[in-house]
Amino acid sequence: MAAGDILEAETNARDLRASPRHVALIMDGNGRWAAARGLPRFEGHRRGVEALRRAVRAAINLRIDYLTVYSFSAENWSRPREEVEMLLGLLHRFIRNDLAELHASNVRVRVIGARGDLAPEILDLLREAEQVTQANAGLTLVVAFNYGARQEIAAAARALAEMVALGRLAPGEIDAEAIAAQLDTADIPDPDLIIRTSGEQRLSNFLLWQAAYAEFVFLPILWPDFDEVAFIGALAEYGHRDRRFGGLDAAAPGAKTAS
Ligand code: FPP
Repeated sequence: MAAGDILEAETNARDLRASPRHVALIMDGNGRWAAARGLPRFEGHRRGVEALRRAVRAAINLRIDYLTVYSFSAENWSRPREEVEMLLGLLHRFIRNDLAELHASNVRVRVIGARGDLAPEILDLLREAEQVTQANAGLTLVVAFNYGARQEIAAAARALAEMVALGRLAPGEIDAEAIAAQLDTADIPDPDLIIRTSGEQRLSNFLLWQAAYAEFVFLPILWPDFDEVAFIGALAEYGHRDRRFGGLDAAAPGAKTAS
């Protein structure tokens, strides 16, 4: 069956409640993809960007509201300098080459992650992508760049501590909602589905807070091989999950409020 037919069948088959509103992707396996072909790691990352383009198009076709992609973690700076520069270069080219098409496709770009110590040219690029697309109402593409969930939670704790020190907040007012409001994702719904490629089964400091009730799908394929068929397969798997949000069944009160 062609990808388009599968897409149509799956889209028709899934009722609204079974559709994830927010999908997050851990794009893993670029290096292994390249090594398996005797190619340099760069080629794996370059093909990874192509897979990212396919994923964005698929998310638009599948009418997903939010797609978050883990493009560069706070820990990725520890990779060899040439690889870090290559990844930064790919991000640069991705935004330069694809921003017009993303904008034309009504995609709104958001960036999460620490901005403090980023080079000015990268900061400008990220700001430009957000500003140009901020009024778009289609897919929200959340690019996690220089992102680490523990660092994000620590920054939220610091912000709340400062509010307490200034007398603007009482310690007793710090609850889950107050913490969530200080995260980079404050105005973004929690991910319903997190997909990781490459067979690894871990979160790697990605969306630790927001993943509280996410469903996980771990795919055995390497990221450069990710395509619309793989995406639809992951959504089909998600559609079979029974999300209870700590309640008794999918219709429990928690399920309605915690989506
Ligand atoms: C993991 O593969 C992937 C990354 C560290 C970066 C993800 C980046 C892309 C998909 C391309 C770059 C896109 C942008 C927009 C910057 P890995 O290198 O850890 O693979 P391995 O585990 O097989 O070595």
